[in-house]
Order: sequence, then structure tokens, then C-alpha cells
Amino acid sequence: MGAGRVAAGATGGVRSGGMADRPGAEELLALAVDVATEAGQLALRGRAGTVAAESTKSSPTDVVTALDRASEALVAKRLLEARPDDGILGEEGADATGTSGVRWIVDPIDGTVNFLYNLPNWAVSLAAEVDGEVVAGVVYAPALGRTYTALRGAGAALDGTPLRVSAVESLDMALIATGFGYTVERRTAQINVLTRVIPKVRDIRRMGAASLDLCSVAAGTLDGYYERGLKPWDHAAGGLIATEAGAVTGGLDGAPGTEALYIAAPPAIFGFLVDLLAAEPRADRD
Ligand code: IPD
Ligand code: CA
Repeated sequence: MGAGRVAAGATGGVRSGGMADRPGAEELLALAVDVATEAGQLALRGRAGTVAAESTKSSPTDVVTALDRASEALVAKRLLEARPDDGILGEEGADATGTSGVRWIVDPIDGTVNFLYNLPNWAVSLAAEVDGEVVAGVVYAPALGRTYTALRGAGAALDGTPLRVSAVESLDMALIATGFGYTVERRTAQINVLTRVIPKVRDIRRMGAASLDLCSVAAGTLDGYYERGLKPWDHAAGGLIATEAGAVTGGLDGAPGTEALYIAAPPAIFGFLVDLLAAEPRADRD
């Protein structure tokens, strides 16, 4: 897959202005696409053999496979060969401060449990930050054959075709995705929130890869998404892809989307989803 083709595709829905003019953003995206594609192909080839949990993190079900580590090692090696002065943050431990102002944020396999079970919904997620702001992102899902890309200020694309969020107008017609953390405590709290959400929306989906949930919001194949407990590598690339396709992202009360809560939805329903997720709904939106 040529990086140029996908990078050009990310500008397919071009809106003028913004960071698209910033030197280097397109080059960062092209590099991100090449590297994510190589890492995704490595994981896909590995998936053809036996895949087992190698160790666990926050709980016995929070697994890491050898291919999570191999994918991150490849991404770090390729990026730092190409741009030795950049920083990098990765789920499997990559953490280097650079001097160039560019930092890469990588989830080498997002949707590891799907990967373990040979379900196709997993992806390599790679974003480039410049001076603390994500300017380019790719989510490459090899088993689905999909490459989602975005460049800040220049739109988002799926395999070169511009993306746009859904035209949903009300929460009760909205298909909403969410995810659950790996600890019993986190899941118990999340189920309590879900009992409040599910009677108010069309239905709920749990697909198992946060980056791809955000890309689905971008594509309008989901109307919205929320989750507590996301790390930067879960949402850095997908969050840019969603916003560049017209979604609003954030947390409660005007806060940015963080580990406390990350919400993405088209503008027409974003505020209603925020209020539904807030413990004390605001009267003006009830
Ligand atoms: C997980 C997935 C899942 C989400 C979890 C994430 P991982 O990432 O994105 O959908 O619900 O919060 O931790 O562990 O597969 O990289
Ligand atoms: Ca992961």
C-alpha cells in the first residue's frame, strides 16, 4: 500500500486552512501509514500461526501477545530510523522524549483480545503529535483490509475516500459503541453507567477496539462512542480521524476527552450524550 495514495486520500475531503499547511504534517502521515502498514502486516502474518497470551497487565484478562511487542518494536525502530530526534509513547513500553517537537503515539495492536480470538476487529493505531497536538493519524486494520487516515485541517479518509459522521439527530435513534476496562471494579462502574444509557439510545455495540470505534463514528457506521479508561494510544489517531470527519470529541462539562471519559459523536447529539453520561444531567437538556 503506497503511503502517498493514502496520504493524498486523507486530504480528499479537503477543507481549507488549519494545520494542513504546517510543514511536515503530510510527511508525518505518509511515514505513519508506511510504518503502521508494515507493523500490521507483521501481526497479520503472525496471526496465521499460534497466538497465545504471553503476559498480563491490569488483570488476568488484560493480555499481551508476543506480536503486540513485536509490532511496537518494529514501529519504534522504523520511526526512529527515519526521524531519530522524535519522541515516542507506546502501549507496550516505548517512552522516549525527543528534541524535534514531534512525538509518536502508538498502540501496536488495539483490540488485542479480538486478535487473540482471531476476530478481525483489531488495528495498529499510530498518531504524530507536533508540540503536543495530534496532526496526523492512521488506524490500519489488516484483517479488515482498511486504512483510516486523517490530517489536521484536511479531513479524514478510508482508503482514500473522504469520511463524514452520520446525520443522526436524536439520541434515541443513535447506535452507540462503548468499551469496558479489564478490572472488576472498572467494569462494575461501567455497567452502572450502561444501565442509564441503554434505555435512551437505539442500541449499544461493544466491538473491542477503541481506535476502530472512533473510525466507525468518523464513517457514520456508528453514531457515537464513549468510554472511561482510555489511554492516549487508544484515542490519539482515532480521535483525530473522528474530529476531521465532523465529530465532536470531549469529556464532561467542556473538558477534553481523557482517561476520565472520552466521548465522540456528531454535533447534533454530542451534548445529549454528555448529559446522559453525567451523573447529574443538566436541566436544560433533559
Ligand atoms: C482496548 C480496546 C478496547 C477498549 C479497552 C482498550 P487493547 O485496547 O481498545 O476496545 O475497551 O479500553 O484497553 O488492550 O486491545 O489495546
Ligand atoms: Ca494494545
